[in-house]
Order: sequence, then structure tokens, then C-alpha cells
Amino acid sequence: MLSFMRLSVAVAVLAPTLSAYASNILVLVGANNQLTFSPSNVTANVGDTVTFQFESRNHSVTQSSFASPCVPLAQGIDSGFQPVGIDVTALPTFSFTLNNASTPLFFFSKQNGECEQGMVFSINANPDSAKSFAAFQAAAEKSATPPAPGSSATASSGSELLVLVGANNQLTFSPSNITANVGDTVTFQFESKNHSVTQSSFASPCTPLAGGIDSGFQPVGINPTALPTFSFTLNNASTPLFFFSKQTGECQQGMVFSINANPDSAKSFAAFQANAEASAVPSATVAKKLQRKHPRDFVSAAKVARK
Ligand SMILES: *[C@@H]1O[C@H](CO)[C@@H](O)[C@H](O)[C@H]1NC(C)=O
Ligand SMILES: *[C@@H]1O[C@H](CO)[C@@H](O)[C@H](O)[C@H]1NC(C)=O
Ligand SMILES: *[C@@H]1O[C@H](CO)[C@@H](O)[C@H](O)[C@H]1NC(C)=O
Ligand SMILES: *[C@@H]1O[C@H](CO)[C@@H](O)[C@H](O)[C@H]1NC(C)=O
Ligand SMILES: *[C@@H]1O[C@H](CO)[C@@H](O)[C@H](O)[C@H]1NC(C)=O
Ligand SMILES: *[C@@H]1O[C@H](CO)[C@@H](O)[C@H](O)[C@H]1NC(C)=O
Repeated sequence: MLSFMRLSVAVAVLAPTLSAYASNILVLVGANNQLTFSPSNVTANVGDTVTFQFESRNHSVTQSSFASPCVPLAQGIDSGFQPVGIDVTALPTFSFTLNNASTPLFFFSKQNGECEQGMVFSINANPDSAKSFAAFQAAAEKSATPPAPGSSATASSGSELLVLVGANNQLTFSPSNITANVGDTVTFQFESKNHSVTQSSFASPCTPLAGGIDSGFQPVGINPTALPTFSFTLNNASTPLFFFSKQTGECQQGMVFSINANPDSAKSFAAFQANAEASAVPSATVAKKLQRKHPRDFVSAAKVARK
């Protein structure tokens, strides 16, 4: 049921205190192969969602501070690197919802040298203050040539499907499997711990697919100020897609997800999950390390793997 819920409805249910009229602000990252965020700076209200769509190369949206524009802020928001191939099947997106509009937020792309070329972004920086976007960008640039910010936006026409990752502190995707159409956007909201949504294959459930979709690790603190989300838009509904959380041992405990797996085929979600649970727990070295650090978790993971 949740799989067919419109994202806007789901967000309202999950965050009842947010404004019912929150907007979604789209920022293009690396549009037209440029080292830019477009727009370069926005103002947003509490409850607004800012969505970054990665258009080219291999950029990131990484929070920093006015004082150190090109240094990741400890515990800050970070999309991780989002490579976009030449023949992309889907453009990755990363989003978060603002919960404090009185603090300006500063961001950069952490790809080598890009911040110093002015690839920075801000939310709610006061243009009339000493901490304006312009001052932030000037501080980021060690060598001149500020980029020309463009402004374009794309709208998607499909539905938005919401998947909760690690809800209630469980090692689950909820729902665990969905069907989606071409043009639908699937959004993963990370609820706890430090999981990922990483594409694999039916044959190797716990191994990242080369060139596949990967959210990277998305840690969520104890009292998160914003839950990170990761999305992509489906452009082929006839190929089932398989995913897992790449955090150590989680795939083997059944933390997997599928899109458009045919329940009546040999490659059903249930068969995929059974494969994942039967996969060997990482390498002997990793397993030993794990066992030393978390003896109890290791025992339960091994038990599940033997099933
Ligand atoms: C993206 O950039 C990071 C950091 O430079 C690098 O480690 C990673 O391999 C790159 N990914 C691709 C697919 O090029
Ligand atoms: C928003 O952030 C400002 C500055 O960090 C802080 O003073 C204020 O208490 C915060 N407001 C809320 C509602 O958390
Ligand atoms: C901030 O963004 C607006 C468009 O959203 C743009 O017109 C303005 O030039 C930007 N400010 C700077 C200093 O680039
Ligand atoms: C998240 O997990 C990865 C992989 O285990 C680890 O490298 C990273 O430090 C973790 N992040 C946090 C904030 O715990
Ligand atoms: C969708 O994927 C299937 C299987 O990989 C392929 O045969 C088909 O050509 C693809 N369709 C489009 C529109 O790309
Ligand atoms: C697939 O998801 C549906 C709900 O979306 C659920 O009822 C069903 O049990 C799931 N299939 C398996 C094998 O877990």
C-alpha cells in the first residue's frame, strides 16, 4: 500500500508538524557539464524539500561552513559522490527537508578542485550580510573565474514512490519490493543507523553492480535534524532491479529491495532475499574483525546466513 502512496502524502504523514504547503526546490548539479549548482543559492522555508539532481560527471553536495567553504562539516549533510555515466539510464537525485530557516546552510562539491573553482551553493544566506552567497563563493575560490549560474528546471510526470530504509531501527526496506512504471521516481528516506541503497544483481545480491545506482552510506544521527533521502527515476520498467544495503553484514540479514521483480518468476523478490541470506558473510578477515567488535551481532548474522 505504501508503495502506491504519493510522496507528498507520505511526507505529510511522517512529519505532521511541517507546513502543508511546503514546496520542493530543484537544484541542478553540473548542468550542461558546467561546475555549477543551478541556481547557486536559494531561500527556503521550514518544511521545504531541496532536491539536487546530478546532471553530469561525478559531483557531490556536501555541507561545509562559511568559515571553511571547501571542508566537509562534521556530521553535515553529504550526498557522497554521484557519478553520472555518458549513457545514463537515470539521473541520481539527493534531497533533504529544511527544519530551520534561520540558519544559513553552505555546501560545495567535494570532487577534487571543484570547490576552488566556485562550485558552491547556499540556502538562506542573507545577501546583505557579511555571510552572503557571494562572499562564500569568493572565499571558496582560490583562483578566479566565477561560474555563470544558469537556471533551468525539469519536472517529472510520473508518481513518487517512498521507501523507508531502516524504519524503527530494523534492517529493512519498507516496503521490501515495489512495482513502478517508466517515469516514476523512487525515493529512499534513511531513518536510522548507517545504511545504503546499492544496486546489485539477482545472481550476486550482496555485491555492488559495476556502474550501478548507489546512494553511498547515509548515516543518521540519534537526533537527526533532517533525514537524508536518495531518489532516481525509472526509465525501463521491463528490467527488474535489485538492491541491498552495503553496510557490513546487513545484506546477509536480508536487508534487500527490488523493483519490478516478478513474484511468479524464478527471480522473485522472495528468491532474491533468500539468495542474499545464503550469501557468505564478507571475507574471513572482515568476519573476524566483526566478531571481535560485535560478537553478538556476528552470531546472529551467521545464524541467519546458515538458514
Ligand atoms: C567519483 O569520484 C571519486 C572521488 O574522486 C572517485 O573515488 C570515484 O571513483 C569516482 N567515481 C566514478 C564512477 O568515476
Ligand atoms: C535555528 O537555528 C538557530 C541558529 O543555529 C537557533 O538559534 C534556533 O534555536 C534554531 N531554531 C529551531 C526551531 O531549532
Ligand atoms: C543567488 O541566486 C540568484 C538566483 O536564484 C541569482 O540571481 C543571484 O545572482 C545569486 N547570487 C549570487 C551572488 O550569485
Ligand atoms: C558509515 O558506515 C561506513 C562503512 O561501514 C563507515 O565508513 C562510516 O564511517 C560510517 N559513518 C558514520 C557516520 O558512522
Ligand atoms: C529495457 O530493458 C530490456 C532488458 O534489459 C531491454 O531489452 C529493452 O530494450 C529496454 N527498453 C528500453 C526502452 O530501453
Ligand atoms: C513484496 O511487497 C509486498 C508489499 O509491497 C508484500 O506484501 C510482500 O510480502 C512482499 N514480498 C515478499 C516476498 O516479501
